Formats: sequence, C-alpha cells, structure tokens
Amino acid sequence: MVMVKLAKWVPTVLVFITFLVNGSFALFTPSDNYLIACGSSKSITFQDRTFVPDSQHSSVVLKTTNSIVASSNSSVPLPIHQSARIFTEKASYRFQVEEGRHWVRLYFYPLPNSGHNLTSAAVTVVSDEFVLLSNFTFGNYNGSYVFREYAINVTSDTLTLTFIPPTGSVAFVNAIEVVSMPNDLFVDQALALEPTAPFSGLSELAFETVYRLNIGGSLLTAQNDTLGRTWENDQKYLHVNSSVVKVSINPSSVKYPAGVTPETAPNWVYATAEAMGDANVANSNFNITWVFTIDPNFSYFIRVHFCDIISKSLNTLVFNVFINTDIALGSIDLSSITNDLSVPYYKDFVSNASADNTLSVSVGPDTMADITNATLNGLEIMKISNALKSLDGLSSVESLLPSSESNKNIGVIVGSVVGGVVAIALVGLCYCCLARYKSKSPEQGHSWLPLPLYGNSQTITKMSTTSNKSGTASCISLSSSNFGRFFTFQEIQDATNKFDENLILGVGGFGRVYKGTLEDGTYVAVKRGNPRSEQGLAEFRTEIEMLSKLRHRHLVSLIGYCDERSEMILVYEYMANGPLRSHLYGTDLPSLSWKQRLEICIGAARGLHYLHTGASQSIIHRDVKTTNILLDDSLVAKVADFGLSKTGPALDQTHVSTAVKGSFGYLDPEYFRRQQLTEKSDVYSFGVVLMEVLCTRPALNPVLPREQVNIAEWAMSWQKKGMLEQIMDKNLTGKVNPASLKKFGETAEKCLAEYGVDRPPMGDVLWNLEYALQLQETSSALMEPEDNSTNHITGIQLTSLEPFDNSMSMIGGGVSGTDDEAEDATTSAVFSQLVNPRGR
Ligand SMILES: *[C@@H]1O[C@H](CO)[C@@H](O)[C@H](O)[C@H]1NC(C)=O
Ligand SMILES: *[C@@H]1O[C@H](CO)[C@@H](O)[C@H](O)[C@H]1NC(C)=O
Repeated sequence: MVMVKLAKWVPTVLVFITFLVNGSFALFTPSDNYLIACGSSKSITFQDRTFVPDSQHSSVVLKTTNSIVASSNSSVPLPIHQSARIFTEKASYRFQVEEGRHWVRLYFYPLPNSGHNLTSAAVTVVSDEFVLLSNFTFGNYNGSYVFREYAINVTSDTLTLTFIPPTGSVAFVNAIEVVSMPNDLFVDQALALEPTAPFSGLSELAFETVYRLNIGGSLLTAQNDTLGRTWENDQKYLHVNSSVVKVSINPSSVKYPAGVTPETAPNWVYATAEAMGDANVANSNFNITWVFTIDPNFSYFIRVHFCDIISKSLNTLVFNVFINTDIALGSIDLSSITNDLSVPYYKDFVSNASADNTLSVSVGPDTMADITNATLNGLEIMKISNALKSLDGLSSVESLLPSSESNKNIGVIVGSVVGGVVAIALVGLCYCCLARYKSKSPEQGHSWLPLPLYGNSQTITKMSTTSNKSGTASCISLSSSNFGRFFTFQEIQDATNKFDENLILGVGGFGRVYKGTLEDGTYVAVKRGNPRSEQGLAEFRTEIEMLSKLRHRHLVSLIGYCDERSEMILVYEYMANGPLRSHLYGTDLPSLSWKQRLEICIGAARGLHYLHTGASQSIIHRDVKTTNILLDDSLVAKVADFGLSKTGPALDQTHVSTAVKGSFGYLDPEYFRRQQLTEKSDVYSFGVVLMEVLCTRPALNPVLPREQVNIAEWAMSWQKKGMLEQIMDKNLTGKVNPASLKKFGETAEKCLAEYGVDRPPMGDVLWNLEYALQLQETSSALMEPEDNSTNHITGIQLTSLEPFDNSMSMIGGGVSGTDDEAEDATTSAVFSQLVNPRGR
C-alpha cells in the first residue's frame, strides 16, 4: 500500500493504491469511458482500470503542432504518473461523447527528467465552455502531484480540453479521464442557504470536486465505486470539539430505496457513519462539526448523505444539520422520510460565496428528540463555476482563447454582428437624447434600441422617450414591449439614494430590496440581484418573463427593470404595508380583524387562482408563504415573488417533475415525496398560510413542543377535533362567527389534504373563503351567529359551485369582489378559453 502526502488545500488528491481486488457491484456502464495515459507508449493499469495511450485512441483527437512525450522508469507516486505529454503551445484533446454530464479527471505530476522544468510550468486547462485550471504551477504548491475532478455538462457531441502554456513556457498532463455519469446524479436544483431559497440552473454550471468523504469509514477508490470516485476518511476535517464515535453495519444490509443507487454513493459510504460520542449523558448537547478550507470567491454545492444505522427503532433519532451557521435541515427524522432504518437518503444544498475561507458542516441533536444523537454518513463538497464560467480564477474561456487562426472566420462574423448592434445602439441613443432635448412631448421621437436582456441580446424593442420633469441627464425610455420600463442604473441609484442601507425593505434569495422614490415621487420597491448569484440570473429572467405576462390586481406588478452594467434590478410597485407575516406576528403592528384577514386571504387566493388559470399555460407559484403575500396601503393583498414560478404541466401531463423547491413548513408533502409539482402544491402551501393567519404563529417553530413544531400538523389535529378555536389567535376570541370559522377551518383542512387529488382547486378555495367572509358579515349584520347556517349554506354552495367553475364572471363579481370586477373582466377573455378544457 502506498500513501502519498498531500497539501491541505487539495485534499481530494489523497489517493491510495491498493492491490487487493474485492467486491462486486451492480455496475453502471458509462457510455463514454475514456481513460487516457498521455504520452505513454503502453497501456497503464491503475486502480483496476486500463488507461490507453493517447496516441492509440481512435475517438480522441489531439490537436497540436508541437508536443513532447516524456516518461520515467524511476519510481513515481502513482503508476499513472509514468508518462506525460508536454505542450509548448496551445493544444487540445477532442473526445467524441454523448450529451450529458461527464466526469473529467486530470492527473499532473512533474516528471523529473523530461527535458523541461515541469515544476515551474504553468498549466491552464479549459473545456469548451469552462475554465478548469488557471495558471497552476508546482512551484508554489505544497505537494508532489495533483489530481482534479470536474463534473461538466456537455451539450454537444464533442468535448474539447485545451491546455494553454504561458508564452515561453510549457504545460503538461499525465492522464485524463472523461467518463459519463448517470443523468440524474446531479439535478438542476438544490436548496440555497443564507437565506434559504431554492437554487436552480445547476445543470448549466460546472462543478469541481473539492471534498468527498466517507464519514466514519475507510478510503474508497475507483475499485469500490461504480463511478470511479474517491471517498476519503473524514477524521482530519473533524473540528476539535467534536466528540464522535464511528458506527458501521454490514454494507450488504444497506437498503437502497427507489431513486438512490450505488451510483449516488456506494453502500460502503452508507454503511459507516459518525455519531455523537458520549451521547445520552448530561450536557451532551453539542454539534459534530467538520471544517473545510475553501475559496471564498465561489459558491459550493454540498451533498449530505444519511443512512440511519444507529437507531434501534423508527422515529427516535431527530437532529439538525447546519452548513456554516445556517440551518440546512431542521428536526430531520430520517425514518419518517425513508420509513425504515438503514435506508440511504441525501440532500443537496448550495452555499453562497462567503467572506470566510472555511466552510463547515455540523450535525447536532434536536432538543425535542427522544434520544440525543446526530449522524452523518457521507459528504460531498463541490465548487460551482462562477459567472465567468470559471472554476479557477477570474478569466473566461473567451479571454484565454481569443479567436485564433482556426476560428478567424467565426470571429469575423461575430464581430460584425456585434459591431452592427453597437452601431444601432449608438444611433438610437443619440436620437433618443436628441429627441428629448428637442421636445418634451412623450409621443415624439420613436427609435429602435436593442434591449440587452440576458441571452437575448438581439431583441429589438420599440422605445419611445418620455418627458423628464426633474430634468436629470438620464434618457428614460418607456418600452412598449411587455417588459415594462427600462431604468438606467443612474436612475436606480437616484431613486434609492445610492442603495442606502436605511432604505432596505428586505433581503431575499435573490438579493436586497430597497424602497425607492422615482422622479415623480412614486414609491417603488427596487430588488437588486446579487451580481454574483447564478441563481439570481435564472430567477431574474423567470421573474421578468412571468411578471410581464401577468397583470392582475392581486399580483405585485413589475414596473420595470435595469440590466445595465450586469446589474439585475427589478422595480416593482411599492407595497406600503409590507408582508402579511409582519401583520400576524413578530412585530408591534396592530392585530388584524377577522374580516381583514379573510379579505387578505381572498385577495391572495384570487392572485393564485389567476396564476393557475389565467395565462395560456397554468403557472405554479411554488413558494406561497406569508412573506410572499404583500399588502398595499389599503391592505389589499398581492402575491409576490415569482422567481421560483414554473409553468404548470402541459395538457398531456399531470405534473411537472422537478426537484423540491420552496420553503420549509410550506412544502406539499406529496411534492416532497414524489418531486412532482402541480397547482395543488400551491394549494397546500396556501392551506399553511390560512392556518398561520388564524393562529398567528410561524409555519415551523422548532422551539415549540414537538407536536406543535409544524403548524400544518398541529392545526390539522385541532381542526379534526373540531376545536380550531382553541388554537386561534387570542385577539380574535369572541369576534369570529363560528360558522365563518368552521368554513375557514374546513377550507384549510381541504387544502392541507395529504394527496393533491384530494385538495380543491384554487377557485374553490377562493369561493369558500368568500363564503366564510359572507358568513362573518351576515352574522355581524344580524348580530346573531346561527350555527345551523353552515349546513344550509353548504347546500347552496354545492349548487352554485358548477356555475362558479364554468363562468369566470363569477370570480370578479364574486360575493365581495366589487372593485375587482373591472379588472377581472379584462382578463375574462383569457379565462374563458380555459374554463371548458379544464373541467372538473
Ligand atoms: C475497495 O476495493 C479494494 C480493491 O478491490 C479492496 O481491497 C478494499 O477492501 C475495498 N474497500 C472497501 C471498503 O470495500
Ligand atoms: C450547532 O451549530 C449551530 C450552527 O453554528 C448553532 O446555531 C447551534 O447553537 C449549535 N448547537 C450546539 C448545541 O452547540
């Protein structure tokens, strides 16, 4: 057995060679499996795999005018280091591959007698899209060799790896692996932390493995892993204060559930774990923490692997998982997810770039649990490519590979198009400003300008100028397209007093939200995307697209946006009374009356109903919660935050399959289990909102006794007993008509049904809430709540349900929707097209 010592900051380099052959797995067979020994004259066997000389591989093309082979017979750290190919100028390997994510693994060892000083060579490696390694040199590296592993999504039928030496020096490589992986190994979404928000768009990003741990277990290499991965032991990353015990079971007793396979992680990973040492003694409440050095300029993908191999029975182990100081999984009970012990489970997170160069992962007992313990079986930490599509440094592939001889033609074509667009833009800009200078009339001076929306820079939008009362230098252009008004960055700065911290209204997954004031005195909410957040980019696009298609009295409207200087800024109507949540608890705001609460719920339900049915394709909000329902100056509720929205299932599908997104406490259990998204997932979340409105407490409150932690479970148990008033906000006591409360409780109960099919569509929810409101109003008018009324009214409801669902005019003209009529009438044309196909 040979072990090689490595530098601290590249721990995955840790590789053992073992000559014992053992173990049998149900093998995943990769469609592409290139194992290349660069510059070698013979095949090399390494970790039971055969690396073929690069000169002998038929579907690999090496494009270079000058390369040197080197080899060594003296002892090298790993057999794969025996040979190298040295490049004195830019050189590329091109692999024929199938589309999809691939492992790209690179091996570097500066062979001593190659005729070049490889120790001082600087290696830059790029793929077609991503910078993998930038100016790496052994000169200032504390280790004898380097191994790097990347996960790259290839979107064409070739993958090119280009090695770029610095002028006058050389680059080199000893071995390359390009191996396909199962398509579902990494999905598009994960949960971002700080703040907690779904992160999507991972499939467009590249990963670099930085840490992969078999916690509590031994080193696993390609021999033990069907995907050729290396898993190292976790000991050296354990924080000094972590008292742990290693636990293990026979790997054959690991029970893989559907959706988790040995490709997710080998059973050896799930068969070992660390648990709390000295658990179940007094003062045993501590975290087990692993600490990792990272590059703070990057975001990281973190996958935690669990398998409850420590419990004796179900539902006894409940613990928390933290990433840095953020809670990643609160009160997790593995057996309630997996319904059995020894069943693997994993979860993906994204940790944003931080100020700190360490990343920590902790598990600690939940104070509510029967036993005090916590566990972790495996951990993967992968660096995520940045906005420049780089995994190392701040250069893009374009800047490292300026169009050369072979690309000259393409360069010329691209150049002329860009030049043309710039010229049009300049002409347009001059004209725009000139027109403004000449005339104050908003209708004069039309011109065409390119609208540089991400990924769509050729979009031409009709622009016109408007008068500018304050006479500032900026040239405002009101777009007649659906994208709303375009703001210059200067205007945004003026409106927000240069992003004054005192004007911050809130901070969300996307970035910060400021209160702004436009030149004409209108208040706006300015949402500024975190420029580095890839998540933001996708959501920015979604939000503009979604919002520009949607106009409704109960949806927060988009006024415009600014994408100058790679900013991602959205400007919304200002909602003077802020989120619904702050009117329920946690602030000193006056308590809302039952009628106000019902009206707010009805408004939000209308907004959601419109989302689900009002557009040509139904839209699922995905993150319905009390912080995403905003109130304007007259407490009219509007649904906000469409960053996560997803178009609903097409007609021939019944659901959208997707990774779980949304906020804890509001997540549809069915969505969680089956990763299937329907409008009914929003209905569930809305049920949680209803309970929150009634009980004025958060959806999840981990400090409460266990049965109360989750509002959905807790309130449902009282609703089923018919005693909802027991847990209702004390401020409402004696002020709620029992029939109204009953209708409200029943509505919430239906929304919270375990299965989507049992939940009513949003239109029914809306109708029932209208009814609850009417019951309240009737009762206050008659001053005599009559309990019998419920049954009576239920009868009416059933008969009127049909006309309601088939005649959208009823929505606008609904029981209390007087001032909504006009607006809903404008959308009724859209609605009516959808009424019949939807049916019931
Ligand atoms: C990994 O594979 C090697 C070689 O087949 C074997 O010797 C070793 O025992 C395996 N390790 C584990 C944990 O199975
Ligand atoms: C565990 O770590 C988290 C995050 O840093 C912290 O909030 C929590 O208080 C810790 N728990 C204990 C018992 O130290």
